[in-house]
Amino acid sequence: MTAFALTRTLPEDTTGAALRADVLAGLGRTPKELPPKWFYDARGSRLFDEITTLPEYYPTRAEREILLARSAEIAAVSGARTLVELGSGSSDKTRHLLDELHSLHTYVPVDVSASALRTAGQALAAQRPGLSVHALVADFTAPLALPDTPGPRLIAFLGGTIGNLLPVERAAFLASVRRLLAPGDLLLLGTDLVKDEATLVAAYDDAAGVTAAFNKNVLYVLNRELGADFDPETFRHVAVWNSEQEWVEMRLRSVLGQSVKIPALDLTVDFAEGEELRTEVSAKFREKSARAELAAVGLAPVRWWTDEAGRFALSLWGVDEAGR
Ligand code: SAH
Ligand code: TRP
Repeated sequence: MTAFALTRTLPEDTTGAALRADVLAGLGRTPKELPPKWFYDARGSRLFDEITTLPEYYPTRAEREILLARSAEIAAVSGARTLVELGSGSSDKTRHLLDELHSLHTYVPVDVSASALRTAGQALAAQRPGLSVHALVADFTAPLALPDTPGPRLIAFLGGTIGNLLPVERAAFLASVRRLLAPGDLLLLGTDLVKDEATLVAAYDDAAGVTAAFNKNVLYVLNRELGADFDPETFRHVAVWNSEQEWVEMRLRSVLGQSVKIPALDLTVDFAEGEELRTEVSAKFREKSARAELAAVGLAPVRWWTDEAGRFALSLWGVDEAGR
């Protein structure tokens, strides 16, 4: 039996209302900023997949290397019957894990991008008879209602996407993941690691300009969803390493002074020449600080692996039963 189901956990207009609230708050702030989840419409998801194949974008290849080497061990340690994946996107690397999780009953990919979920989920359900795929269109920064499926549960959060959350958001997010884990369940976490600035910046500012197109995609989303009149050609993609915060910051710099109208918000936003809008951070981790952050929400280390070159880490965490 192939089984694919897709559940929207949010009423139709929730997305629209959330987008309006985020844009209103973010563009009203100094400096201006926007939350990253709005990159990922169908075009944004396609552009991200293209990023993962770029020579400069090492995280996907490094994480795949670890998954290929460690999936059998992950399967043995977890004994997972349900795999929940947050921000699953194309579920491409997940296939290595699915190849080894022989006791798996249900795969629950969770993403804000319904188009990515549908494409990936239908293909997987067709290729893996016996596996039930229950896709969830949901925002993983909000409380998640997971389907009632057999344990043990393995929650995967790959791609270094955790680095796209700001430190406060990250703490709240990790605490909410902790609440989804029962004793015996595990979290599988992909984190990009601190390294030399040139390598980091190149990964977010590729020669072919795909990341620039991805970054500007958020402006197309605002034009389409809110009737805004951003001219993406008048913004330049900028990626900088912030050594204090240890994150790469993605920005869009207005190359001229301009006013942008956003009719759905009844708003006009002024940009000075050279003014920057921060669209994304991508935090990089160290083993020690990661351990401290996870310990703070009651998650204890089970495994910590890196790729041969030490660029990226994949780690397993369990409920710290002594803690709470
Ligand atoms: N896991 C994949 C994709 C990473 S890109 C990989 O490792 O290659 C980040 C993914 O997270 C995208 O598919 C995006 O749509 C999704 N995403 C971003 N913010 C989200 C949010 N707040 N809630 C749910 N999904 C989100
Ligand atoms: N999770 C990815 C990362 O931080 C997302 C990403 C890759 C991204 N390239 C980007 C986000 C460029 C914004 C702009 O590595």
